[in-house]
Amino acid sequence: MSAALPPVALSLIGIGTGNPDHLTREAQAAMQAADLILLPHKGEDKAELAALRRDLCDAVLTAPGPRIEGFDMPVRRSVGDDYLAQVDEWHAAITRCWQAAIARSLDEGLQPRTPGQPLQVALLVWGDPALYDSTLRIAARMQPAPHSVRVVAGISSMQVLCAAHAIALNGIGQPFVVTTGRQLREQGWPPGVDTAVVMLDGQCSFTELPSHGLHIWWGAYLGMDRQMLDSGPLAEAAPRIVQARAAARERHGWIMDIYLLRRGG
Ligand SMILES: C[S@@+](CC[C@H](N)C(=O)[O-])C[C@H]1O[C@@H](n2cnc3c(N)ncnc32)[C@H](O)[C@@H]1O
Repeated sequence: MSAALPPVALSLIGIGTGNPDHLTREAQAAMQAADLILLPHKGEDKAELAALRRDLCDAVLTAPGPRIEGFDMPVRRSVGDDYLAQVDEWHAAITRCWQAAIARSLDEGLQPRTPGQPLQVALLVWGDPALYDSTLRIAARMQPAPHSVRVVAGISSMQVLCAAHAIALNGIGQPFVVTTGRQLREQGWPPGVDTAVVMLDGQCSFTELPSHGLHIWWGAYLGMDRQMLDSGPLAEAAPRIVQARAAARERHGWIMDIYLLRRGG
């Protein structure tokens, strides 16, 4: 393995939902300009999800394209209740995987396409890199620090959810909150808002809220052929969503879903 990495210019590219139609032209150009694209492998149950990134590369890249190098995504330890320490450890492990994958590619002869320039390394980030994603925080741990870090904005699942239901995200002049299933479960309804968008919820945390006066707009596999949508007063829609979600997860082995809750209809 190479002793030290040469200068690396990192591009964190928001790819939307994996649907090539959701990729911006800027994102496509950044992918094409990379010397190396790192793709995470996330284990058997999420193999299909990893394949979506690979399919996206096949759909938009033209020869001579970047080298594509996979790496096995470390699994986050989830024993005990020190969530932040677990995440910190996990991010450190991911940084090591990126660096090993870059070193492997260099050992196998990869060089910057533009001699004398930093190696252009890209990561394809689901949705938008700024929203509930740690790729920027992982990049900040790289040693030596990257020569530069560029972020390419992507269409987030929150936007695709609103578009799919043809709803506005916020009430007129009103704020909204974007939060996680864990926060909703542990803290209840967020103070000061009538609209909450909930991501990263594997446990249908909306079932733990008093449903009176709440409306839900839910979407799974947004932007994909198998996209699923449901909406309605929470009391009526919740049991349908719980059932549909479990069946879809069973059928496909994985699910990604997001929902918007609004007080007052
Ligand atoms: C780690 S966060 C990444 C969010 C992403 N950066 C974005 O801008 O959408 C993963 C969560 O995003 C939501 N998500 C991402 N893609 C989705 C999709 N295609 N359909 C439904 N939810 C999605 C889910 O709530 C999932 O648990």
